[in-house]
Amino acid sequence: MAVLISGRGSNLQALIDAIAEGRLDAEIAVVICNHKHAPGIQRARAAGIATYVFVRRDYESRETQHEAMLACAQEHDAELIVLGGFDRILSPAWVETYPNRIINIHPSLLPAFAGGMNPKPQQDALEAGVKIAGCTVHIATADVDAGPIVAQAAVPVLADDTVDTLANRILAQEHRLLPQVVQWFAEGRVHIEGDRVRIAGVIPCLWWSDG
Ligand code: GRF
Repeated sequence: MAVLISGRGSNLQALIDAIAEGRLDAEIAVVICNHKHAPGIQRARAAGIATYVFVRRDYESRETQHEAMLACAQEHDAELIVLGGFDRILSPAWVETYPNRIINIHPSLLPAFAGGMNPKPQQDALEAGVKIAGCTVHIATADVDAGPIVAQAAVPVLADDTVDTLANRILAQEHRLLPQVVQWFAEGRVHIEGDRVRIAGVIPCLWWSDG
Protein backbone atom coordinates (compact mmCIF):
# COMPACT_ATOMS: atom_id res chain seq x y z
CA MET A 1 0.00 0.00 0.00
CA ALA A 2 0.93 3.66 -0.22
CA VAL A 3 0.04 5.74 2.84
CA LEU A 4 -0.65 9.44 2.34
CA ILE A 5 -0.20 11.67 5.37
CA SER A 6 -0.20 15.35 6.23
CA GLY A 7 0.60 15.48 9.93
CA ARG A 8 1.05 13.46 13.10
CA GLY A 9 0.93 10.04 11.42
CA SER A 10 -0.46 8.04 14.34
CA ASN A 11 -2.62 5.97 11.97
CA LEU A 12 0.48 5.32 9.86
CA GLN A 13 2.17 4.17 13.07
CA ALA A 14 -0.75 1.83 13.80
CA LEU A 15 -0.21 0.22 10.38
CA ILE A 16 3.56 -0.03 10.93
CA ASP A 17 2.99 -1.66 14.35
CA ALA A 18 0.33 -4.06 13.06
CA ILE A 19 2.70 -5.26 10.33
CA ALA A 20 5.59 -5.62 12.82
CA GLU A 21 3.38 -7.61 15.18
CA GLY A 22 2.11 -9.92 12.43
CA ARG A 23 -1.50 -8.73 12.65
CA LEU A 24 -1.37 -7.22 9.18
CA ASP A 25 -0.05 -9.16 6.23
CA ALA A 26 0.80 -6.25 3.96
CA GLU A 27 3.62 -3.93 3.10
CA ILE A 28 3.87 -0.16 3.16
CA ALA A 29 5.63 0.42 -0.16
CA VAL A 30 5.83 4.18 0.22
CA VAL A 31 4.72 7.07 2.42
CA ILE A 32 3.70 10.23 0.58
CA CYS A 33 3.36 13.49 2.46
CA ASN A 34 2.36 17.00 1.41
CA HIS A 35 3.94 18.95 4.30
CA LYS A 36 7.68 19.21 4.83
CA HIS A 37 7.55 19.24 8.64
CA ALA A 38 4.86 16.63 9.25
CA PRO A 39 5.86 14.55 12.30
CA GLY A 40 4.63 11.42 10.51
CA ILE A 41 7.63 11.60 8.15
CA GLN A 42 9.95 10.65 11.01
CA ARG A 43 7.76 7.68 11.90
CA ALA A 44 7.99 6.43 8.31
CA ARG A 45 11.74 6.95 8.10
CA ALA A 46 12.30 5.28 11.49
CA ALA A 47 10.50 2.23 10.11
CA GLY A 48 12.73 2.26 7.01
CA ILE A 49 9.92 3.10 4.61
CA ALA A 50 10.60 5.04 1.40
CA THR A 51 9.17 8.50 2.07
CA TYR A 52 8.58 11.41 -0.29
CA VAL A 53 7.34 14.93 0.32
CA PHE A 54 5.42 16.86 -2.35
CA VAL A 55 4.90 20.45 -1.30
CA ARG A 56 2.23 22.37 -3.18
CA ARG A 57 4.38 25.46 -3.81
CA ASP A 58 6.97 23.39 -5.69
CA TYR A 59 4.35 22.71 -8.38
CA GLU A 60 2.48 24.91 -10.83
CA SER A 61 -0.90 23.62 -9.79
CA ARG A 62 -2.64 21.19 -7.48
CA GLU A 63 -3.11 18.89 -10.49
CA THR A 64 0.61 18.67 -11.26
CA GLN A 65 1.42 18.15 -7.57
CA HIS A 66 -1.13 15.33 -7.37
CA GLU A 67 0.14 13.87 -10.67
CA ALA A 68 3.64 13.64 -9.19
CA MET A 69 2.29 11.97 -6.05
CA LEU A 70 0.30 9.52 -8.15
CA ALA A 71 3.34 8.65 -10.27
CA CYS A 72 5.24 7.99 -7.05
CA ALA A 73 2.58 5.59 -5.74
CA GLN A 74 2.55 3.76 -9.08
CA GLU A 75 6.35 3.55 -9.25
CA HIS A 76 6.23 1.79 -5.88
CA ASP A 77 3.59 -0.66 -7.17
CA ALA A 78 1.00 0.40 -4.61
CA GLU A 79 -2.20 -1.62 -4.92
CA LEU A 80 -4.12 0.10 -2.14
CA ILE A 81 -3.99 3.77 -1.18
CA VAL A 82 -4.54 4.64 2.47
CA LEU A 83 -5.33 8.22 3.43
CA GLY A 84 -4.09 8.43 7.00
CA GLY A 85 -4.83 12.01 7.90
CA PHE A 86 -4.26 13.43 4.43
CA ASP A 87 -5.65 16.97 4.37
CA ARG A 88 -6.49 17.41 0.67
CA ILE A 89 -9.03 15.97 -1.76
CA LEU A 90 -7.14 13.84 -4.27
CA SER A 91 -7.34 14.86 -7.92
CA PRO A 92 -9.75 12.88 -10.16
CA ALA A 93 -6.78 11.09 -11.76
CA TRP A 94 -6.18 9.26 -8.45
CA VAL A 95 -9.75 8.01 -8.24
CA GLU A 96 -9.62 6.92 -11.90
CA THR A 97 -6.32 5.10 -11.42
CA TYR A 98 -7.33 3.38 -8.19
CA PRO A 99 -11.10 2.82 -8.46
CA ASN A 100 -12.41 1.51 -5.11
CA ARG A 101 -8.80 1.14 -3.94
CA ILE A 102 -8.42 4.40 -1.99
CA ILE A 103 -9.55 4.34 1.63
CA ASN A 104 -9.83 7.18 4.09
CA ILE A 105 -10.27 7.20 7.85
CA HIS A 106 -12.55 9.89 9.28
CA PRO A 107 -13.15 10.55 12.99
CA SER A 108 -16.96 10.37 12.97
CA LEU A 109 -19.68 7.86 12.30
CA LEU A 110 -20.38 8.93 8.71
CA PRO A 111 -22.59 10.22 7.23
CA ALA A 112 -22.82 12.28 10.43
CA PHE A 113 -20.26 15.05 10.83
CA ALA A 114 -18.64 14.76 7.41
CA GLY A 115 -16.11 17.34 6.32
CA GLY A 116 -13.50 19.12 8.35
CA MET A 117 -10.28 17.77 9.73
CA ASN A 118 -9.58 16.52 13.23
CA PRO A 119 -10.82 17.85 15.72
CA LYS A 120 -13.78 19.46 13.90
CA PRO A 121 -15.86 16.27 13.49
CA GLN A 122 -15.30 15.31 17.14
CA GLN A 123 -16.23 18.83 18.27
CA ASP A 124 -19.37 18.75 16.10
CA ALA A 125 -20.37 15.41 17.66
CA LEU A 126 -19.88 16.80 21.17
CA GLU A 127 -21.89 19.92 20.38
CA ALA A 128 -24.69 17.88 18.81
CA GLY A 129 -25.02 15.96 22.07
CA VAL A 130 -24.81 12.52 20.47
CA LYS A 131 -24.24 9.65 22.89
CA ILE A 132 -22.32 7.42 20.49
CA ALA A 133 -19.46 8.69 18.34
CA GLY A 134 -16.70 6.89 16.48
CA CYS A 135 -14.75 6.60 13.27
CA THR A 136 -15.32 5.37 9.74
CA VAL A 137 -13.15 3.87 7.05
CA HIS A 138 -14.68 4.58 3.66
CA ILE A 139 -13.79 4.42 0.00
CA ALA A 140 -12.51 7.83 -1.09
CA THR A 141 -14.32 9.31 -4.08
CA ALA A 142 -14.35 12.77 -5.64
CA ASP A 143 -16.74 13.94 -2.88
CA VAL A 144 -15.57 14.76 0.64
CA ASP A 145 -16.14 11.96 3.20
CA ALA A 146 -18.87 10.53 1.00
CA GLY A 147 -17.73 7.24 -0.53
CA PRO A 148 -19.07 3.79 0.41
CA ILE A 149 -18.59 2.93 4.08
CA VAL A 150 -16.27 -0.03 4.64
CA ALA A 151 -16.24 -0.30 8.44
CA GLN A 152 -16.95 1.68 11.58
CA ALA A 153 -15.98 1.68 15.24
CA ALA A 154 -18.21 3.15 17.93
CA VAL A 155 -17.36 4.77 21.26
CA PRO A 156 -19.54 6.29 23.99
CA VAL A 157 -19.62 10.04 24.52
CA LEU A 158 -19.26 10.60 28.26
CA ALA A 159 -20.90 13.41 30.22
CA ASP A 160 -17.62 15.08 31.15
CA ASP A 161 -15.94 14.68 27.75
CA THR A 162 -13.90 17.48 26.23
CA VAL A 163 -12.99 17.53 22.55
CA ASP A 164 -9.60 16.08 23.54
CA THR A 165 -10.90 13.20 25.63
CA LEU A 166 -13.44 12.27 22.98
CA ALA A 167 -10.91 12.60 20.14
CA ASN A 168 -8.47 10.36 22.04
CA ARG A 169 -11.13 7.72 22.68
CA ILE A 170 -11.99 7.74 18.97
CA LEU A 171 -8.32 7.73 17.93
CA ALA A 172 -7.68 4.53 19.91
CA GLN A 173 -10.41 2.90 17.82
CA GLU A 174 -9.00 4.36 14.58
CA HIS A 175 -5.78 2.56 15.41
CA ARG A 176 -7.66 -0.75 15.74
CA LEU A 177 -9.97 -0.25 12.77
CA LEU A 178 -7.58 0.88 10.03
CA PRO A 179 -5.12 -2.07 10.20
CA GLN A 180 -8.09 -4.44 10.43
CA VAL A 181 -9.65 -2.99 7.27
CA VAL A 182 -6.37 -3.16 5.36
CA GLN A 183 -6.05 -6.80 6.42
CA TRP A 184 -9.54 -7.48 5.02
CA PHE A 185 -8.43 -5.92 1.72
CA ALA A 186 -5.28 -8.07 1.78
CA GLU A 187 -7.42 -11.17 2.29
CA GLY A 188 -9.63 -10.22 -0.66
CA ARG A 189 -12.73 -10.06 1.54
CA VAL A 190 -13.88 -6.57 0.54
CA HIS A 191 -16.68 -6.48 -2.04
CA ILE A 192 -18.05 -3.13 -3.16
CA GLU A 193 -21.52 -3.27 -4.62
CA GLY A 194 -22.66 0.24 -5.55
CA ASP A 195 -22.84 2.24 -2.34
CA ARG A 196 -22.66 -0.81 -0.12
CA VAL A 197 -19.61 -2.71 0.98
CA ARG A 198 -19.69 -6.31 2.11
CA ILE A 199 -16.81 -7.89 3.98
CA ALA A 200 -16.99 -11.64 3.44
CA GLY A 201 -17.29 -13.55 6.68
CA VAL A 202 -17.10 -10.68 9.16
CA ILE A 203 -19.26 -7.93 10.64
CA PRO A 204 -17.32 -4.74 9.97
CA CYS A 205 -17.99 -2.85 13.18
CA LEU A 206 -15.91 -2.60 16.31
CA TRP A 207 -17.24 -1.69 19.72
CA TRP A 208 -15.41 0.26 22.36
CA SER A 209 -14.54 -1.51 25.57
CA ASP A 210 -12.76 0.01 28.56
CA GLY A 211 -11.29 -3.29 29.63
C1 GRF B 1 -7.34 11.25 12.35
O1 GRF B 1 -8.22 11.75 13.31
C2 GRF B 1 -8.09 10.77 11.14
O2 GRF B 1 -9.33 10.22 11.45
C3 GRF B 1 -8.26 12.04 10.35
O3 GRF B 1 -7.07 12.76 10.55
C4 GRF B 1 -6.47 12.36 11.77
C5 GRF B 1 -5.10 11.87 11.43
O4 GRF B 1 -4.35 11.57 12.58
N1 GRF B 1 -8.55 11.78 8.97
P1 GRF B 1 -2.91 10.92 12.43
O5 GRF B 1 -2.09 11.84 11.53
O6 GRF B 1 -3.08 9.56 11.83
O7 GRF B 1 -2.36 10.87 13.82
